[in-house]
Amino acid sequence: MSATQPTTATGTTAYPLVHAVNVTKAFHGNEVLKGIDMDVAKGEVVCLLGPSGSGKTTFLRCINQLESIDGGRIWVDGDLMGYAEKNGHLHHLSDKQVAAQRREIGMVFQRWNLFPHMTALENIMEAPVQVAGQSKAKAKERALALLDQVGLKDKPSAYPAQLSGGQQQRVAIARALAMDPKLMLFDEPTSALDPELVGEVLKVMRQLAQDGMTMIVVTHEMSFAREVADRVVFMDGGVVVEQGAPKDVINNPQHERTKSFLRRMRQEEDDAEATPSA
Ligand SMILES: Nc1ncnc2c1ncn2[C@@H]1O[C@H](COP(=O)(O)OP(=O)(O)O)[C@@H](O)[C@H]1O
Ligand SMILES: [Mg+2]
Repeated sequence: MSATQPTTATGTTAYPLVHAVNVTKAFHGNEVLKGIDMDVAKGEVVCLLGPSGSGKTTFLRCINQLESIDGGRIWVDGDLMGYAEKNGHLHHLSDKQVAAQRREIGMVFQRWNLFPHMTALENIMEAPVQVAGQSKAKAKERALALLDQVGLKDKPSAYPAQLSGGQQQRVAIARALAMDPKLMLFDEPTSALDPELVGEVLKVMRQLAQDGMTMIVVTHEMSFAREVADRVVFMDGGVVVEQGAPKDVINNPQHERTKSFLRRMRQEEDDAEATPSA
């Protein structure tokens, strides 16, 4: 397989921002990703759905090189992740080169994103100052603007423990944005939150999507997927089972596995409504 992607005659990029081809990954012989193909266009928002254990987190971690892949290729903005091609051969990039690739990708996890001993402002300034070598003054100015963007203008001095889960996730988003990523990966960013805090995080993500950020979002929030996603990808058992426009996949799934997953999701939503949290 070629390590390069096509460019047009005029030199403009003909490739999607994320181009994953036949990605495979096993843990101790257990094949978790069984040949994932996925393209994400610049500015596109893709919601990744699927039951627990289907490989969603692993796939995001592979894109961000928190996991190595066993087979296939992943390009982000034309750069082959983890490798360089020389004379038709692939060579592993150095740790420093991998770190440079990872810097272009922001990631927000379920929780425990923030450094507990740093204020919100310090959390956001950390990578720009320590990794990108920005001046403290410049990083601070940008961090304050990002806090404003996520609705936390009045919380620069708060430590994570003084913030609600929803506020912490919004700081985590601001912190990821501080490195001006080309791509944002979200792994169930609201699933550890109390229900009343989910909306404020989704609102920030919705705005980010409207501003043109390219995003891959693993979520169980069906109404968010329906509203915000350009495309929904349903994964199960390490393969992409079905994908398409949210209204098609969510309202009119074609595969039995998608149908049963969506039925379960709907049942959980109904149960949650029927039993108000204490
Ligand atoms: N570091 C790991 N070591 C061993 N098995 C793992 C590891 N990470 C994930 N897995 C396994 O891979 C499968 C897919 O996990 P994951 O990607 O977390 O799925 P999802 O995010 O869709 O719930 C699961 O069976 C999980 O137990
Ligand atoms: Mg997961």
